[in-house]
Amino acid sequence: MKQIGDHVTIAIDGPAGSGKSTVARRVAEKLGLLYLDSGAMYRAVTVLAIQNEVENDIPKLIGLVKTCRINFEDNGKKILLNSDDVSIQIRTPEVNKLVADIAKVPEIRNEIVKHQQKIGEEGSIIAEGRDLTTIVFPDADFKFYLDASVKERAKRRFAELQAQNVDTTLEAVETEISARDEKDTSREHSPLRAAEDAIHVDTTGKTIEEVVDFIVDQISNQK
Ligand code: C5P
Repeated sequence: MKQIGDHVTIAIDGPAGSGKSTVARRVAEKLGLLYLDSGAMYRAVTVLAIQNEVENDIPKLIGLVKTCRINFEDNGKKILLNSDDVSIQIRTPEVNKLVADIAKVPEIRNEIVKHQQKIGEEGSIIAEGRDLTTIVFPDADFKFYLDASVKERAKRRFAELQAQNVDTTLEAVETEISARDEKDTSREHSPLRAAEDAIHVDTTGKTIEEVVDFIVDQISNQK
């Protein structure tokens, strides 16, 4: 088995609010891995669309995506779009609402997937999103599928938004998450689904630390 220190790839998929970003970030810190937030890249493309007012002009947006630069700094904490820090803009309600429609465009996905695979070649990585275990890194050394009930996922998101003083309601967050789940699982190109060889983790009622420890144990036990 591979050791952490060799080139190791860990892929995590799951729906919005399943805890995968926080968990992946913590596992990255614990094991000294590069962290890749693939959703942030689709969000950055959505910001690109809004900035250029091409949300409804997909051919133009595809052209812009082919020439834009999306980079991470601070091990995934900051995301730069053509050198501008868009870490705050990618989390706005407007982006939440639009991102799934933009992420379903095959030409956009192809560009972003190529970019993600290139980042994966740079070193040991933990990457999370919707198609990391199935399309981006189908040969990953470790695969996990995180899930939780929609009610619990909405509660977590709502708490995060409240902490950021975003004016919304639990019902509105649940509606937004359910709509995004529906779009992400039913789209034709790279829908969200669990890879056959992924380890399922139901995070309902579990703390972040419990999930992090479970994943680290799985990796350590298989080494
Ligand atoms: O993970 P996050 O919720 O930030 O992702 C935002 C959106 O980006 C998802 O709802 C989905 O539409 C899209 N996405 C995707 N494939 C990924 C990661 C995210 O289509 N690998």
